[in-house]
Amino acid sequence: MLNKKPWLLGMALVCLSVGAQAQSQPQDMKRGMELMQQQMMLMTPELAQKAQALSPDIKKFLMRVALRHERRSDTLTLVQVMQEIMAEHHMIGTAIATDNGPLAADAARRLALHRLPRGGMLPYLPIEKVTTESLSVLPSMEVAVEGNAQKLAEAADRGDMAAAAHHYGEMTAGCVACHMHFRGQPGASAYTPRLKQ
Ligand code: HEC
Repeated sequence: MLNKKPWLLGMALVCLSVGAQAQSQPQDMKRGMELMQQQMMLMTPELAQKAQALSPDIKKFLMRVALRHERRSDTLTLVQVMQEIMAEHHMIGTAIATDNGPLAADAARRLALHRLPRGGMLPYLPIEKVTTESLSVLPSMEVAVEGNAQKLAEAADRGDMAAAAHHYGEMTAGCVACHMHFRGQPGASAYTPRLKQ
């Protein structure tokens, strides 16, 4: 099997180095590798080849994302996951505006540990964005969105809604930055090619 799928061997090597650096538990490494294999099995050969060519750092990052986010869907697409994230975002806004710390904290933690779509993120990006250079912005997007969501939750736990509102703004700036980088026409669907541009 490894002979037929060189990327599996590549992932195995990446997992070994992740384990060495982060001193992960062997079971985490095994699980991380399984998750990456599951994602790559769903990719077209063209995408799998581009994923295989990514730098070890990006592969490690993607593996850690897959490991940390424990809700992984076999059916939902990235747009559907984003709609769920949007709903959490609305809920946080409502909670901040109504001074409801527990509601803000719970929704922010769900947002930070959002569901993952079928096949991971790569299948939903424009294929020309699946490069080490283009994906190298992902860790900073994660800090902006998930990092600020966690800080927001901590502020809301303390009842400091002014600080929560500040993190809400910074988190939202992360959504905007990622969309500017990766998303094409907002709201585009398979039907829009029927419109003149
Ligand atoms: C890692 C990059 C990234 C981050 C961070 C991100 N998004 Fe997205 N988002 C995307 C991509 C890519 C799409 C388009 C997916 C597609 O068309 O298949 C998208 C689509 C969406 C959509 C679907 C409708 C549309 O306009 O295309 C919504 C709603 C959305 N995002 C909300 C959010 C919110 C709210 C946040 C922040 C809390 C956020 N996103 C953070 C990458 C990101």
